[in-house]
Amino acid sequence: MLVKKAPDLTYSDVTPKSLYMGRRNFLFGLAAAYGAVVGYKKVTRLLEGPPTGSKPVKLMGVAKWPGSTDEKETSLEDVTHYNNFYEFGTSKTDPAANSQNFVTTPWSVSVEGEVKNKRTFTIDEMMKLAPLEERIYRHRCVEGWSIVVPWIGYSFSTIMRLAEPTAKAKFVAFESYYSPKQMPEGGSAGIELPYVEGLRLDEAMNPLTLLTVGMYDETLPNQDGAPVRLVIPWKYGFKSIKSLVRIRFVKDQPPTTWNISNAHEYGFYSNVNPTVDHPRWSQATERRLGEFRRRPTLMFNGYADQVASMYAGMDLKKYY
Ligand code: MTE
Repeated sequence: MLVKKAPDLTYSDVTPKSLYMGRRNFLFGLAAAYGAVVGYKKVTRLLEGPPTGSKPVKLMGVAKWPGSTDEKETSLEDVTHYNNFYEFGTSKTDPAANSQNFVTTPWSVSVEGEVKNKRTFTIDEMMKLAPLEERIYRHRCVEGWSIVVPWIGYSFSTIMRLAEPTAKAKFVAFESYYSPKQMPEGGSAGIELPYVEGLRLDEAMNPLTLLTVGMYDETLPNQDGAPVRLVIPWKYGFKSIKSLVRIRFVKDQPPTTWNISNAHEYGFYSNVNPTVDHPRWSQATERRLGEFRRRPTLMFNGYADQVASMYAGMDLKKYY
């Protein structure tokens, strides 16, 4: 395992050459798949933010992802002031109010378990593993609200290709940072912390699964999961774990926070599905923050073309 602190490390500084070459081949494949359209720009970025991360820093040279939705983006004000982040309190306005002094520097994320290459990445290293892309995704919360956000990151599959899961790895388990000292409200949140989530290996590998380090051209605000989170746009928002510190490749389906808390209401898969109601409310419609009228919820949140085949033959009423 290799951890270096210098902020200007390049990818080849922190990666064995064989892996580095592997990634280059991967990027080549990706570029070929997207065609010349993507035209990755050289990514440069300024990372010198204040230690709290409460004033996000501009990310520059971010490539646009052609698959982005062209729906109207939700306002930054709504996306940063109507949040779920139970470590900082359970009301929608708590995260913005209580996370401003959350210290996210230094930060590292470990990659462990059934992989050939166990590693710990500093956040600076992580931000350099692949060109950052702006991806405008719909994001649907299980509670019935939705947002459209220009997230910034790269496919989680980049990490998987570097880690090289062994044949035993069938799932990926994710864990958030938790410190009762920094997050005193977490103690009365009513859920077990640290927050944990999981994906099947193929779901984690799906190109839509985004390792997210920013939004609206800047690094992530604390209340939105600084400094790194996942965004899995075809699943209910609670799968999109914030302030990630641990990634573990495992044999068995891992426990997940909301399933531990209430298995009857929250399953492992949690794919957005307007035909399967939550036991206490319908999932057929949603309210986009900033809008009044409800709109129909789309199967897999509108990403069926990219993800439905992963669930072929599965009873989605049973595997909710
Ligand atoms: N991650 C952690 N660590 N703690 C949380 O409470 N809440 C989840 C998810 N990730 C949560 C979390 C839920 S319920 C939702 S809907 C989304 O984050 C909300 O993301 P947003 O606040 O950026 O919209």
